[in-house]
Amino acid sequence: MPSEEIQTLNAEIDACRKCSLGNSRLNSVPGEGSFNSRVMFVGEAPGATEDSQGRPFCGKAGGVLDELLAIANLKRQEVFICNILKCRPQNNRNPHETEIQTCTPYLDRQIEIIKPSLLCCLGNFAASYTMKKFGLGAKVQGITKIHGNIFIAPVSYGKIKIMPLLHPAVVTYDRNKMATLKEDFLQLKNIPK
Ligand code: URA
Repeated sequence: MPSEEIQTLNAEIDACRKCSLGNSRLNSVPGEGSFNSRVMFVGEAPGATEDSQGRPFCGKAGGVLDELLAIANLKRQEVFICNILKCRPQNNRNPHETEIQTCTPYLDRQIEIIKPSLLCCLGNFAASYTMKKFGLGAKVQGITKIHGNIFIAPVSYGKIKIMPLLHPAVVTYDRNKMATLKEDFLQLKNIPK
C-alpha cells in the first residue's frame, strides 16, 4: 500500500542523521500530497517556514506555487510535493553535492512508490538530479534555458515526462519572472497525465 510505504519512509527520513542537516533542522520535510497522483513536484530544500512546520512549500515560495498550481488547474492535495533535500540547509544556502548524494535515495523511493507520469522540477537542483537519474544527463542545461520543455524517459512502469520549471522563489526577488512561470504552468493544463 503506497500510504503505508510512504509512512515507513517518512519515519526513516525523520530519524535520518546521515548528514549534519539532520542535527541542525527543527523538522524533517519529507513531502506531502496524494500518493496516487500522476504528478509530482520536486523542489530544492526546505526553507525556514518549511523547517518549522515540517511541510514543503508552505512559506513565501509556497504561496507562489499555490498561485501557479491554480493556473494549471491542479489542487495541492491532488499532487505530491517534495524536495531534493528533506532537511533545511542553514541560512538557505545551496545544497552541497554530498548532501544531495546522501538524501536523494529518499526521493528515489518516493518516485518508486508514487510512480508519477509527470515530474515537475522546480529549479536547477531538481532538474539536474532528476534528468540525470532518468538518463537525460546530456540534455541538462541551466534552468533558464530548459524550463518549459518536456523530456521523456522510459521507466519500469512506462514513460515519465520531466518538465523543468523556474523555482517559484525567483518571483520573490524578481516579480517579472511570474509571467514566465505562468506560461509554463499553463502548459501543464494540457499535458496528458
Ligand atoms: N523552496 C524549496 O525548494 N522547497 C521548499 O519546500 C520551500 C522552498
